[in-house]
Amino acid sequence: MSQQHEAPNALAGLRVLLGVTGGIAAYKACELVRRLREAGAEVRVVLTANAARFVTPLTFQSLSGQPVHSGLWDEAAEAAMGHLQLAHWAQRILIAPASANAIARLASGFADDLLTTLCLASEAPVAIAPAMNLRMWGHAATQANVALLRTRGALFLGPAEGRMAEPESGPGRLLEPHRIVAELASRHGPKPLHGKSVLISAGPTFEDIDPVRFIGNRSSGRMGFAAAQAAVEQGAQVQLIAGPVHLPTPMGVVRVDVRSARDMREAVMARASTCDIYIGAAAVGDFRAHEIAAHKLKKSGAALTLSLHENPDILAAVAALKPRPFVVGFAAETQNVEAYARAKLERKKLDLIAANQVGEGRGFDACENEILLISRDGAERLARADKLALARQLLLRIIEKFEMAKARSGVAKGKAVVRRSATVKRAGKRPR
Ligand code: PMT
Repeated sequence: MSQQHEAPNALAGLRVLLGVTGGIAAYKACELVRRLREAGAEVRVVLTANAARFVTPLTFQSLSGQPVHSGLWDEAAEAAMGHLQLAHWAQRILIAPASANAIARLASGFADDLLTTLCLASEAPVAIAPAMNLRMWGHAATQANVALLRTRGALFLGPAEGRMAEPESGPGRLLEPHRIVAELASRHGPKPLHGKSVLISAGPTFEDIDPVRFIGNRSSGRMGFAAAQAAVEQGAQVQLIAGPVHLPTPMGVVRVDVRSARDMREAVMARASTCDIYIGAAAVGDFRAHEIAAHKLKKSGAALTLSLHENPDILAAVAALKPRPFVVGFAAETQNVEAYARAKLERKKLDLIAANQVGEGRGFDACENEILLISRDGAERLARADKLALARQLLLRIIEKFEMAKARSGVAKGKAVVRRSATVKRAGKRPR
């Protein structure tokens, strides 16, 4: 057994739901529980029926100091903490060892046992440490499942290479418990957006024409809601100004519902000057009806002409504030994506713009997206992925650019102070 130990507080306070699936490596999950707790994590164990054939629930109960959860219909465990509560409780789901069967079931979205149900019901990031026969790991079906789960944001830890239970050697071994804990610890630590406030707009706006009709667009709100969740995960206080969408509010996010572009502008502008970062992911309607008819418009057999007015540009207004937050815009384009997005970056005086091509299962009302992230220093492509996985990558880039901008403005302020004190000295005055 390895003598390496994690720093005692490397996972301090992290609530880890450990899913143990069937396989000979299940015995190593016992050491994993011990090491997670040594590193400061609170651990609750979910055993699949196959895992319970290798190690008893009592072993995990003794090691974790908590009741072990094994089935959807386990009355004692449900009384201690119902499975939906458990899904909310978890800040990180770790599945170790994860068998080929478990990986396939997760990729297919099954919810017929406790572990798969929890994975669907929880918003916690999922880490998977596979352990299986080397040919099962190499099989095209397993590799396709792994690739799919990665696009949804799952983090794969291992497998390691080496001697297996059978007299064979290759990739498929469970990563050593101390290495699994070290990988989690490297992603835990202080959150870069702790103490920062992030304001995000999401979804469409609806512009009423008469009491029953409106002009809207196909935005589902998913991209902006995913950005809100990713910002909370990075420690930010997040306010989400949401157009009319039917999405649950990510945990920890303060949500304000609005309908029209002008409602959205009011809600955003009331908060923008006190936030650190503004992300405009909403598809704000560019036009509104000049007048909203008091009664339902009637057909008359003749063409109906609607007179439209341009809506205020919320993003440009936020970027014009003094002082202003770090401003990130989106650009949804059907053609000339990069050129149009660059023009918006300049015209609206943004710090960063996330350009997305509309259509082919991406962008509006899709579960996946693909982004070309453009700043004045260059451009980077974030490959097609599930919107939450993409939002997590996007937030990491935003944090990096935000920190750089802060450092630059600190240097600029420092230079101004030096210039001012030099001027004051020349004038024979003492600097204040
Ligand atoms: O909601 P989903 O279904 O998940 O889809 C996501 C998305 C495609 C809507 C999102 O990724 C996106 O691209 N949002 C911006 C869509 C858009 O309206 O782009 P635009 O090119 O028209 O506007 C450019 C930027 O200006 C945007 O940041 C927009 O929020 C902002 N804007 C536009 C008009 C206006 N009056 N006020 C604004 O603030």
